[in-house]
Parts: sequence; C-alpha cells; structure tokens
Amino acid sequence: MYDKTSALMQRGREFLGTDHAILCGAMSWVSERNLVSAISNAGAFGVIACGAMTPELLDAEIAATKSLTAKPFGVNLITMHPMLFDLIAVCAKHGVGHVVLAGGIPPKGSVEAIKAFGAKVLVFAPTLALAKKLLRSGADALVIEGSEAGGHIGPVATSVLAQEFLPALAQDHVVFVAGGIGRGEMIAAYLEMGASGVQLGTRFACATESIAHPNFKKAFFRANARDAVASVQVDPRLPVIPVRALKNKGTEEFTAKQREVAQALDEGRIEMGEAQLQIEHYWAGALRRAVIDGDVENGSLMAGQSVGMVSSEQPVAEIVAELLSQCEDALA
Ligand SMILES: Cc1cc2nc3c(=O)[nH]c(=O)nc-3n(C[C@H](O)[C@H](O)[C@H](O)COP(=O)(O)O)c2cc1C
Repeated sequence: MYDKTSALMQRGREFLGTDHAILCGAMSWVSERNLVSAISNAGAFGVIACGAMTPELLDAEIAATKSLTAKPFGVNLITMHPMLFDLIAVCAKHGVGHVVLAGGIPPKGSVEAIKAFGAKVLVFAPTLALAKKLLRSGADALVIEGSEAGGHIGPVATSVLAQEFLPALAQDHVVFVAGGIGRGEMIAAYLEMGASGVQLGTRFACATESIAHPNFKKAFFRANARDAVASVQVDPRLPVIPVRALKNKGTEEFTAKQREVAQALDEGRIEMGEAQLQIEHYWAGALRRAVIDGDVENGSLMAGQSVGMVSSEQPVAEIVAELLSQCEDALA
C-alpha cells in the first residue's frame, strides 16, 4: 500500500521490527502505556518516557504496556537519572528490545550494560564528531533532533542537521530525523536524503489515546507555530538546556526559577550539578501540572513548532495513515 515509503524505510523498519519506521519520541507524562501501545499497535514504534520515574514505576509501566501490545516498543532513559543503571536492569528484566538514551552523553558503561542483555541502543548527538564517536563505541542508531522540536532542544535546525549528518552517516548507519515534522511530505524528504526513518512527538501528543488533559490538548489545537518558543537563559553561569513550549505564565516563572537557582549557586548554597538537577525537576513538575492536572496557565506546555499542524484529536492509527499517504504521494 505504501510501497515507495516502505522501501525507503526498510532499514529502519528492520531495525525497529515494525511495519513503519516512524517513532513516537518519548514525551514525559504523555508517553505512557496507552499512547505507547497505540503507536506500536498502529505499526509504528512507541517509546515509554521514563523521565524521573523510579525503577519500580518503570517496571510497572513496561509490564502494563506489554499487556496492551505484542508489538515492539522502546524505553527512553534520561542519562542524568541518578538510578540509570537500576533502570537499565528493569529493561533487562523485561527484555526490552530498544533503549533510547537521552539528555546527554551516555555515562561510562551504560551502552555496554544495555547491549549486554541484547537490546539496541539509540542515542542523540549534538555534533557530527560526537555522533561518530558514539557509533564507534557501540551505539546502534542515532536520532538527530533539530531546534524545531518540542521539549529540550539544541540550537540547530533539523534541516541543517539533516544536511550535515545524513550524507556523512546514513550510508553505513541507522539515522532517524526528529524535530518539526508535521506532515508526510517532510518524511519523504528526509527518507530521500538517506534517513532510515523519522521521530515525531508533537503530532502525536494529542492523539485520542493520549492521556494528556483536555486543557492541554485544547491549548495545542489553538496554538500556531510561533507560539512554541524556546526558553531563554538568564544567567551565563548557569547553563540551562533550552526547552521549547507554548508561551504562558509558566514560561515566565521559569525565568524567575533560573534567577533563584543562579543566586543559590552564587551564594555557594548549591553546586552546579545540583543546580542543573533542580532545573530539570522544575520542568518535570511543570510538565506534569499541564499534562496531568490541566493547568495550562502555570504548567509547561512543551510543544514543537509543528503544533500549528495539530488541530484536532485523532486516533493514532489515523495520524499514522495520514502521514504515510502524504509521504507516499510525495514520493510518487
Ligand atoms: C511534551 C513533550 C515532552 C517531551 N519529553 C521528552 C522526554 O522526556 N525525553 C526525550 O528524549 N524527549 C522528549 N521530548 C521530545 C520528543 O521525544 C521528540 O523528539 C520531539 O517531540 C520531536 O520533535 P517534534 O515535537 O517537532 O515532533 C518531548 C517532547 C514533547 C512535545
């Protein structure tokens, strides 16, 4: 049915064990059993967002997801999680096939620990040099994610990353492109450049199967691309990874939070590692308030620029079919 698309996605499909090489990138609080199983059941690849979960919670989430789908899905672990190796052990216990390491350079031994139980490791890399290094040292696939994406972002646009990374790596490696993809025509373009597949977040966040609060979904449906703005860093001494989210009171509060943490740093009350952890905890809490509690004023509405192309609630299967037929038409 999607012959040209399937052919170009072949390597990605084999790597993921799916019908389609489309990943739904992990979204904290959103990518739980319901959305993840719906994505995988639709023939794409769902990824559980572990975020700040404890090993016990992750254990339960994987088990619940398995009960809802027999198809492959992955788990996204944040590299700075203090219990990273315990979380890896939970993935091993369940025989998870794919682990995505996000949020920084994988710490020593983590890639090896994942490969030791037979899972494939997907990593993010901000530069081509680092990507090559990670692939040399055992990573099985790469996700390149541009600044159009929702959530934590780097400074470079997806279009530029694609031109830098794909000609250099796509011949020999599995590379997925993420950030700013809202339609299938864009998927076709990245596949033609050599990508093995793509990763989308924003487009799936408000699917029927997503447990995100109705207020969160409404905010997405109303928003335009220009409403999804990157956070600003107020203090050069406190390096904060920018986050793209819909503008609201919460984005302003984040500026205040940064000042508070920077001051504590200045006064020697906390160390840099602790400062960064506090910032990350702030985001996790703020995102929960928006996604789960529906507080779209003070919570964090993490969203990518493709939010302008999300205008109503659709079942996952319908979104996947739409993307594939747009892609197939473009390739034809
Ligand atoms: C609400 C939200 C939460 C996210 N949380 C995470 C996360 O916990 N871990 C992660 O690696 N990426 C996270 N992301 C990024 C997505 O996995 C995905 O890479 C991104 O959304 C792709 O770009 P797009 O939003 O333009 O489709 C998040 C994105 C959104 C929109």
